[in-house]
Amino acid sequence: MGTERKKLVAGNWKMYKTPGEAVSLVTQILAAPPPRSDREVVVCPPFVALSRVAHLLKGSPVKLGAQNVYWEKEGAFTGEVSASMLREVGCEYVIVGHSERRQYFADDNPAVARKLRAVVEEGMSPILCIGEKLEEREAGRTQDVIRSHIEGALGEFDARYLRGLVVAYEPVWAIGTGKTATPEMAVEAHRFARKLLGEMFGVAFGVETRILYGGSVKPENAAELLKEPEIDGALVGGASLKVDSFLRIAAA
Ligand code: PGA
Repeated sequence: MGTERKKLVAGNWKMYKTPGEAVSLVTQILAAPPPRSDREVVVCPPFVALSRVAHLLKGSPVKLGAQNVYWEKEGAFTGEVSASMLREVGCEYVIVGHSERRQYFADDNPAVARKLRAVVEEGMSPILCIGEKLEEREAGRTQDVIRSHIEGALGEFDARYLRGLVVAYEPVWAIGTGKTATPEMAVEAHRFARKLLGEMFGVAFGVETRILYGGSVKPENAAELLKEPEIDGALVGGASLKVDSFLRIAAA
């Protein structure tokens, strides 16, 4: 069970890399041997670098993702970017509900749900980020938070709209801190999330949905995380900004 899920390693570049730097990083990624055939590799540069990176990725197995989206199709929304714009530049994935967006940009569950809808309506795959803060874990509320993020984002969907969904379990205390969840902690959270998806959308949906782990994934810990059948890949921040560490994680 679960062996059909192709592992996915996605680099979330956050607000790093100018377009010129992005071109240089992607050029180096593409100069390396292609990813293993049992892996999917995605890079998520800042908006302004997307089209140049897309151009370079054409014909390569590496795929393109965005870090955020606005839910309206178009209109007077100064500073925002729509899902159709992202699709047209070549994005196949869009990260929604990253904890930094929840923390600094007021992306709450209803906003995340709207963004997710916009992404799936354009035929792209959302990477829905979920995960608890340190004080929530310490208060024994990890599962409550996972439940609230999943139900809050997905509660109003019908399973058939969510076929490409990817979930990323990213405990907030592990993001950018150097503290990684142990494989046991990650597996426990993933199992809970998968069970919940199964209850909401049917067991098969739960079994088929890829759940990534994110939070201080590095070449040194990637193998022990990715060897877990329950962990379907990684969403990598800091370590995705250097070609060597990103490729080592992708190959782990
Ligand atoms: P990190 O970030 O790998 O730097 O901890 C992960 C993320 O925020 O997606």
